[in-house]
Parts: sequence; structure tokens; C-alpha cells
Amino acid sequence: MIILGIETSCDETSAAVLKKEGKTISILSNIIASSASLQAKYGGIIPEQAAREQLKSILPVITEALEQAKIKPENLDAIAVTYGPGLIGSLLVGTETAKVLSLIWNKPLIGVNHLLGHFYANWIANDLSLPAPAKQSNQETNPTQIASSLSAPRNDVPSFPCIGLLVSGGHTDLVLFQAHGKYEYLGGTRDDAAGECFDKSARLLGLPYPGGPEISKLALTGDVSKIKLPSPLINSKDFDFSFSGLKTAVANMIKEHPEANKNDLSASIEEAIINVLVEKTVRAAKTYGIDQIIIAGGVAANKKLTETLRKKAEVIARAIIFTPPPILCTDNGAMIAAAAFFLPADATHQALQAGQPETINPDNLQANPNLSLVI
Ligand code: KG4
Ligand code: ZN
Repeated sequence: MIILGIETSCDETSAAVLKKEGKTISILSNIIASSASLQAKYGGIIPEQAAREQLKSILPVITEALEQAKIKPENLDAIAVTYGPGLIGSLLVGTETAKVLSLIWNKPLIGVNHLLGHFYANWIANDLSLPAPAKQSNQETNPTQIASSLSAPRNDVPSFPCIGLLVSGGHTDLVLFQAHGKYEYLGGTRDDAAGECFDKSARLLGLPYPGGPEISKLALTGDVSKIKLPSPLINSKDFDFSFSGLKTAVANMIKEHPEANKNDLSASIEEAIINVLVEKTVRAAKTYGIDQIIIAGGVAANKKLTETLRKKAEVIARAIIFTPPPILCTDNGAMIAAAAFFLPADATHQALQAGQPETINPDNLQANPNLSLVI
């Protein structure tokens, strides 16, 4: 089975072609265009500008994904697209493009919840034989960067039950997966997301967007013992998170101690965020007696988070962790296609499995900016 995955929920424009043979899912192509230079210039994402850039890049990105995969539209079994949550203008670029392609190529359309999609990056066994041309567009004429993203191989995939930690720019959620598409929501952030806390703290430090990678770079040579910051809700009995107090503590620290070393501050910010993520995730695994943890979302690209979680999960809960390679942690089309192979039998899947894709009406798919994991 071959699926084209399309992702445009935030500022990335991505299309990927994935193939499932038996239990193995491999990436044939995964093209990601992001308006990173615009974000750096304005210190964040401007929704209308992001959608305008996506409108320009969506067709070239899909064409590139098909060409690199050496797949013709007629060889596809389905098209999967993120339909929420996200920025409405950005989501519409992806969903409306996917609907049109579904109609003209006569292929079934599968709507994927972006948040579930992030978790499914853990089910991709990467193929070493992929070509890896790092393609950059001309920054002078087009601020969008196009990167062909391929990653290290892995053969093992998670099984159920498992604890899932989603840590991205917009979400921080802890769930207990019982099966594909079947999960119990354990908790989430009451205010800012973990990635948002990295981004806002970085901004206070005068670092460019996105702030997570910048803070973790500076943190490498920082001393955590120099500055003490709070890890909000770390001792609460629930599985909720809160990061806005930490951001305020960082703002106060900078106001009161403008001389504070940025590397030390970065190390303390990173540690304060990681400590609470690790504490609650490991506690969830121990409480429910689960021995597998999957991490997903942009912040899962943070090495200190994955290493700390790996150690504590093993010692405290005897659990192993799965984390996607960094390029599959941040937004990408591959995770959307991967999720589409597994999502539970809805009308689309039933029609697909019954070999009646013509019964599927792509018009039934509507972008939903407020989609969540809470069911
Ligand atoms: O999943 P993602 O690409 O977008 C959303 O769906 O939100 O996540 C983006 C977030 C940003 O907040 C970024 O700062 C954070 O992921 N991030 C990191 C790292 N790489 C990306 N945070 C901490 N350490 C990193 N290495
Ligand atoms: Zn995301």
C-alpha cells in the first residue's frame, strides 16, 4: 500500500510518499518546506504570511515528493492530509489541495489528526537506501527552504499498551494507548505548551525562533547549578502540566539579573521543562504498569529530554522509550501518511478495504483548527 501524506497545519509545507509492506513502513520521500527565514525575521509565525507561503510551495512540494519516490499518482492507494488542529489558513491549503487531488486522481482521502500523526512517526522503519539530496531553494527569490529529509534506520516499532507523550510547539499531552486510534487521555498542559515555553523563553533571551534548538545549543555549555527555576506542577498528583509560570520566572530573572549568563539560563530553562515532562511520563508508566513509552512532537528532538527519560524510565518504571529521529519529530508529511495506514476503520477505510474508493466523497473532510486529543 502506498500513501501520499500532506502536512500544512502550521508553517511547514510537507508531502511524503510512504509504502507499507507487511508490517514495515518505509519512507520513499519526505519533502519539507518551511519559511524559517521569515520566522527568524519576525520572531515567530504570522498566520496569513505562513498560509501565503504554503500556497506557493504546496504543488512543487507534492510534485517533488512523487518524483523523488518515483511514484505516479495512479500508483497511490490513498491521499492522507492533516485536517486539524492548526492555523485555519494553513490547514485549508493542505485540505483543499488534497480534496482536489483526490477528485482528479480518483483516490480516497484520509483525514488525519495532526496530534495523532506526531505519534505515528514512531511506527516508521526508515530505509537506508534512500537518496538524500538536500535541496535548497533560492533564498533571494523565495524565502521558503526545501529540505529532503531522511533519517537513521530502525526496525523496532512500539506495541500496545504504551504511554504517549506529545510535546510540540502548540501541545503537551500525555495519553495511554490501548490500540491504534484507541487511547485514554491522561492529562495535558493547562496553559502554554512545552515548545511554546522554549520559544517564549528564547525570545526573552533574544534568541531566534524556533527557540527550542537554540536554548538546547546554549545549554550544552551552561551550568544548571547557577540559576534555579521552578518546574511547575512537578509534585501534583495528576498528569497535567503548566509552563506559563516558568516563562514568567524567566522574564523576572532577566529583569532582576540582566547580567545572568545566557548559557546558564538556557541550561536551567531546559532542565526545568525536562524535569516535569520526565517526572509525569515515568509516573504514568509506573502507575499503569506500562513498559513502553513513545515520545513525539518537535520537543522530542531534544536530546537531553530523550536521554533523561530513557534513563529514568528504565530505572523507575522498567520501561523502554521510542522516539523518532529528529527530522520526524518536527512537522512532516511522513508521519501523516504513517498514521493513515493504521487509523481505525471509519467510512474511508471501510470503503478502501472493500475496494470501493469511488464511494468516498472528499467534500466530507473539513479543516478543524480546534481538533484535540481529548475524546
Ligand atoms: O511539532 P512541531 O514541529 O510543531 C507543532 O506542531 O507545534 O514543534 C515545534 C516546536 C517548537 O516549539 C520548537 O522550539 C520545538 O518544537 N523544538 C525543540 C527542539 N527542536 C524543536 N525544543 C527543544 N529542543 C529541541 N531540540
Ligand atoms: Zn506538530
